[in-house]
Amino acid sequence: MTSPAAMTRDELMQLEDRLQLRTYNKLPIVVERAEGSWLWDVDGRRYLDFYGGHCVALLGHAHPRVVRAVTEQSRSILFYSNLVYSPVRARAAKKLMDLAPCEMKQVFFCSTGTEANETALKLARKATGRARVVAMDGDFHGRTMGSLAATSHQKYRDGYEKVFPETVFVPFGDEAALREALRHEAGVAAVIVEPIQSMAGVTTAPASYFQAMRRLCDEAGTMLVFDEVQTGVGRTGTFSISDRYGMRPDMITLAKSLGSGVPVGAVLVNQKIADTVGYGDQGTTFGGGMMAMAAMEATLDALREDGLMERATEIHDRIFDGIRKYGGTLRGEGCLIGLEASRPVAPILKGLRDEGVIAGGSLDPNVMRLMPPLTATDEEVDFFIDAFARVVEPMLAADHED
Ligand SMILES: Cc1ncc(COP(=O)(O)O)c(C=O)c1O
Repeated sequence: MTSPAAMTRDELMQLEDRLQLRTYNKLPIVVERAEGSWLWDVDGRRYLDFYGGHCVALLGHAHPRVVRAVTEQSRSILFYSNLVYSPVRARAAKKLMDLAPCEMKQVFFCSTGTEANETALKLARKATGRARVVAMDGDFHGRTMGSLAATSHQKYRDGYEKVFPETVFVPFGDEAALREALRHEAGVAAVIVEPIQSMAGVTTAPASYFQAMRRLCDEAGTMLVFDEVQTGVGRTGTFSISDRYGMRPDMITLAKSLGSGVPVGAVLVNQKIADTVGYGDQGTTFGGGMMAMAAMEATLDALREDGLMERATEIHDRIFDGIRKYGGTLRGEGCLIGLEASRPVAPILKGLRDEGVIAGGSLDPNVMRLMPPLTATDEEVDFFIDAFARVVEPMLAADHED
């Protein structure tokens, strides 16, 4: 067999397709390297990545601070678990808690978003002595059994529902339905919500809804979990989107951007939750490992010292201003943007790829998602807008001819 280094793009794709379980419908791009907002494939073709490496590359790809931190960390120790203390973990935890809302008092480290949500749901059960969970229609919380139980999309649930914990779904944004669900006689352990439902098509709800959610959870003695796996770490312009809504959940789950590509998940908890947690209540080997902590520390340093969170709104506004004239509905906050078109977006996404731009789809065939990095320059945003215009203008012109 030819060695992978000497293989062509097609051969590499065939090899992966043959060896990897076909759980992902991949783009036909074989990425070799990435830097900032850009990717290069094995043939040297360049793409502007406004899908952000699956909503991970919040600081762009290979941010120099993160690369330096993980390189230096790798020279001293790659990994040891929470069985021991570690300088990088102590420092990184402090920096995380300094950026997090002040009501968040402690953190549990893990490696992925689904694991963070599983942990939050377990902690809510422990804190309340109840089992029932309320989630929202349209929510996506992950693929492991607990998080999947709170994920409403049937396409992910099919075949697994028998083992799920008791979970009910209410319409996102419907205060009366939430009030009703919280009246269940056995009580509700947790309300879990994706404050912007990204996968569902970047669906939002007003601040007043989240404030009511807080009040209703307090009245019911229910723990409120914000799944900020996508919205968190400054993507929407504030470290937690709860800042925008003028309320606080009891727990915030984070992952994706937190390690700039090195897997890091975290559950931030308030004092009420922290007081109920004891030795052995939760655990995971890799959570808080040194490479993860070094990547997180560098990510947080860059976010704070380079003032990157402020950039979220500027990028957002520039994109909105640039593509508003083509119609459709624009949604989202900061660097989590949805465009609902009056047609399926698949041909637009394909056209963008041909123009050298990667953007995302969603579970709504008419909604495309943009997750540009906070480090994107105005010129890069304009590159996207120009490519979008070249793709969409002929489609709109053809509509007029029909
Ligand atoms: C809002 C949200 N929660 C949880 C998850 C699960 O995260 P992970 O894939 O890291 O388990 C995702 C992943 O896309 C997500 O978007």
